[in-house]
Amino acid sequence: MFVAEGDVRDWLRLSGRESGFVDEDVERLLGYRAGEDVSSSVELALTAKLLQYREFPFGSDSVEVSGDLLSRHLLVVGQSGSGKTTLLRNLMGEVEKPFWAFDLKQDYRHLSRDVLVLPWNELKFNPLRPPEGVSPMRWAQVFSEVFCHATALLSGSKNYVLKQVVRLYKLYNLFDGVSEPFPSLFELEMLLSEESVRGRKQSGYRDTVLNRLGTFNVVGSSVFDCSAGYGVEELLDRDVVFEFEGINRDLQNFVMEVLFAGVYEYRLAQNQRGEGLNHVFFLDEGKQVFSVYKERQDASGLPEVDRLVAKMREFGEGLVVADQEASKLTESIKANTYTKFLLPTAGGKQFGAVAESMDLDERQRSYARDLKIGEAVLQVGSSNPVPVEIQGFDTGRPVSDEELRRQQHEKWEELDSRPQRVTDRFDQYIRGDTEPEEHTDQDTGISGDAEQLLEDIVEDPFRSLTDRYSEFSSSYKGNQAKSELVDTGFVVERKIRPEPVRRKLLQLTDQGRNHAEEELDIDVKRNGRGGVVHRFWQNHIKDWFEETGWSASLEEDDADVAVDMSGVRLAVEVAMEDSPREIRHIKDRLDSGFNTVWVTCRSSEIQSGIQERMLENDLPKNSVAFRLFRRFCNKENGSTSMENSVFET
Ligand SMILES: Nc1ncnc2c1ncn2[C@@H]1O[C@H](COP(=O)(O)OP(=O)(O)O)[C@@H](O)[C@H]1O
Ligand SMILES: [Mg+2]
Repeated sequence: MFVAEGDVRDWLRLSGRESGFVDEDVERLLGYRAGEDVSSSVELALTAKLLQYREFPFGSDSVEVSGDLLSRHLLVVGQSGSGKTTLLRNLMGEVEKPFWAFDLKQDYRHLSRDVLVLPWNELKFNPLRPPEGVSPMRWAQVFSEVFCHATALLSGSKNYVLKQVVRLYKLYNLFDGVSEPFPSLFELEMLLSEESVRGRKQSGYRDTVLNRLGTFNVVGSSVFDCSAGYGVEELLDRDVVFEFEGINRDLQNFVMEVLFAGVYEYRLAQNQRGEGLNHVFFLDEGKQVFSVYKERQDASGLPEVDRLVAKMREFGEGLVVADQEASKLTESIKANTYTKFLLPTAGGKQFGAVAESMDLDERQRSYARDLKIGEAVLQVGSSNPVPVEIQGFDTGRPVSDEELRRQQHEKWEELDSRPQRVTDRFDQYIRGDTEPEEHTDQDTGISGDAEQLLEDIVEDPFRSLTDRYSEFSSSYKGNQAKSELVDTGFVVERKIRPEPVRRKLLQLTDQGRNHAEEELDIDVKRNGRGGVVHRFWQNHIKDWFEETGWSASLEEDDADVAVDMSGVRLAVEVAMEDSPREIRHIKDRLDSGFNTVWVTCRSSEIQSGIQERMLENDLPKNSVAFRLFRRFCNKENGSTSMENSVFET
């Protein structure tokens, strides 16, 4: 990414000092020390070295900021306007792994159309839902830790919050089996406000916590009103910009910290340890989260979020933090960032704080004080710092909310969330003020019609709704069964676009699959991979080939569809969106011995996006062809031109 070399001779030549003392011997002789018995030409060399060092007080190591370095975290410090955001944009463009950016200023909405940008009002998020695989008890602890850290509450409140969250989870039967519905922050607020408190101290905690929570729920009324928000698990596979502009600072911190902690706990639960970088967090204004004031305030030692940062590495979670005030960052974030960029920084105190954490010597400091925009001093680990140049980044004009909606609404529509719901137990408690009893059997029963529909979905995942409803005495009944399954969270609806196959599909959720397997005792097979729409096209294309007389299979050698055409091996990739992943897939298919790859897309926009990426990536054009889904919807069209078309470019 950034490579810097401080070559003595280059530097001397550039600065016009070539004549006089630079000759072939200089470098060879640089190893001599003063006081040694040396000839006058060596004296000369030493003078050169000294002079060089005075003007250019850095080593001659070459430094590269690679992806793997990011998993050891990176810190950027520079005053306002020094180019922090610019540098972060550069890095985002370079990392080859998915990233999440926490954006407090609408700095990143115009990065590129592949990035999923989520303005606050488009977000659905339930901080009380334990990430997949994380036990409710553990999540209750993380939640109370984060809630109190983000809102600067002390440990007494933390215990109080923990107790309340555990009560709430009990009312939602989460200790009997972790499944939906999950309580939202609104239910937590309600629980607290209904609680009859003994003692003045308890009521003090209650009032402070309720006060913070109430504010969160007002500002987050359209975000937190869900049982399950957008799946962190899915979002980890893509580049996402979370926009937090315009919401208050405590809430920004809270959401960011829950997301940090959620990813960490999720990786831990799934035991996703591994080599190298998996995913990167970008955070401008880092002191909001990694605040030295909170570090000092926390009686229990390191705050949770700081501890996380050190531990996240094991999971290949990288972190890039920028701020203008190094002195307000926690010691631990400074110590736990392996790579550091110092950008122009005027204030003595801030400059001193970075210079110290980079251990710059006096001459290096005096060089670094004169940095201009586009210049930085970079340090990797404890190696010698080196000066580097940073590319500018043309962002074009700002993107308005409307433009953003136009660019992103399809992506937003594809995200899933489930509405807020209360359990009977919670409802009874709130109405009757009875303490939750231990263990009652959870009612997971669904009506006979809903069961029948669920079986039908398992049997044939790609059937149209009309066909499904025809099995019922009326389509009204079928529709009711569908609503019931959607309400219980067993299925979600997915649309296939565009025509000619216009159809709504019902996709089983994990919960629906569990229910079918455990309660109805049906074996659920997965044919294809990804969401139901992706699988629909995989199967559809496979059938299409088989109907035209070729043998085709799913997932062979990782191809979405592999077709054997008398010795010629064709891989068909079903591309749901224009993303760098598709390029990787094409490469992998060609590497694993397919002669030709067809990339099939929903729209010509997606198609030309991927084509553009191909050019950028220098892939062999003659081995890759593009097709629209539409093409596989008309048999006459296909079968006649089959043989030739494989070799079209
Ligand atoms: N490497 C660079 N080369 C040229 N111009 C730059 C560079 N970095 C920043 N700038 C310019 O400086 C201004 C401030 O940059 P920005 O990245 O927003 O700084 P910060 O985030 O530190 O406030 C922008 O107008 C940008 O165009
Ligand atoms: Mg900035």
